[in-house]
Amino acid sequence: MRVLSGIQPSGGLHIGNYFGAIRQYLALQHGNDAFYFVADYHALTSVRDADRLRRAVFDVLADLLALGLDPEEATLFVQSDVPETTELAWLLSSVTPMGWLEKCVSYKDKVAQGIPAEHGLFAYPVLQAADILLYDADVVPVGQDQKQHLEVTRDIAERFNNVYGRGEPVFRLPEPYILETAAVVPGLDGRKMSKSYENTIEIFDEPKAILKKCKRIVTDSRPVEEPKDPEGDNLFQLFKLFAPADERTEVERRYRAGGIGYGEVKTRLAEHIAAHFAPARARRAEWVAHPARVSEVRAAGAEQARRAARVVLDRARAACGVA
Ligand code: ADP
Ligand code: TRP
Repeated sequence: MRVLSGIQPSGGLHIGNYFGAIRQYLALQHGNDAFYFVADYHALTSVRDADRLRRAVFDVLADLLALGLDPEEATLFVQSDVPETTELAWLLSSVTPMGWLEKCVSYKDKVAQGIPAEHGLFAYPVLQAADILLYDADVVPVGQDQKQHLEVTRDIAERFNNVYGRGEPVFRLPEPYILETAAVVPGLDGRKMSKSYENTIEIFDEPKAILKKCKRIVTDSRPVEEPKDPEGDNLFQLFKLFAPADERTEVERRYRAGGIGYGEVKTRLAEHIAAHFAPARARRAEWVAHPARVSEVRAAGAEQARRAARVVLDRARAACGVA
């Protein structure tokens, strides 16, 4: 199976990214032909400082390597190291109806938040379709929020195939891979955890910062002795992701019976998070201390990715008559 996914370099990775996407990247790198990339072209729609963007790209590479992405198992690359992506985006753009992009929720949300309605933001899903179709991806691990973009990708691929296919499809239709248990990880305020809501717990925060963030998790105001509803509690949803099964059962039982305070759960959650990512934090320090090694991984990944991309781009160019 060809597996592919991308992540934007627009700030530190958080535990929503981890459970919603990165954990699946790591699981799927074994036994598959996996490609993972840092989506810096996409980040141009929000990051407007060249040095900051370059730093953020390095940081995401180091983060992914530290979390266990193995360059021997998967191809790790940077989107803009494969400029073929933008050429394919144009070929796809030419068969994409405006209406498909106008209905995309992430575009509408951003404009509603007051972000300028620039063409790049509008055309974002076409570039994402190019990322995916360029590598003949079968499976795309992502969180729930990317489901609509995957649907647009499939629609664009089908349309291109219908217009130019001559009986032979040009593009393979990809399937999203969304784990129900972590499709939407809640943030500190109970909304989807997201950089743009400033409600994140970063994977590589120091233990002290993690505890501080956990203390800010919004709950109701039931006192210790009162019974509580684990399902409706956003703190428990986060706790569930980290605690081992026996501890989860114990805490769930005490929620229902009464006799556990949110403060205790927050402290225990913070300890779990810090312990869970401690080995990755140490490995990250190693990569950061050796930036040349990160550059080597990046260069090797670019070469492999470009080789794969060229095959599909040539097929698409020939199909539509620009070659
Ligand atoms: P953000 O919303 O913080 O900007 P990104 O859009 O960069 O995060 O997301 C990168 C990957 O992580 C995507 O596959 C996305 O679906 C997934 N993801 C992001 N936030 C969450 C979340 N709260 N729960 C589950 N998956 C998430
Ligand atoms: N839009 C995705 C996000 O914000 C990032 C992304 C870009 C992506 N290209 C992709 C994800 C291709 C999967 C496949 O999270």
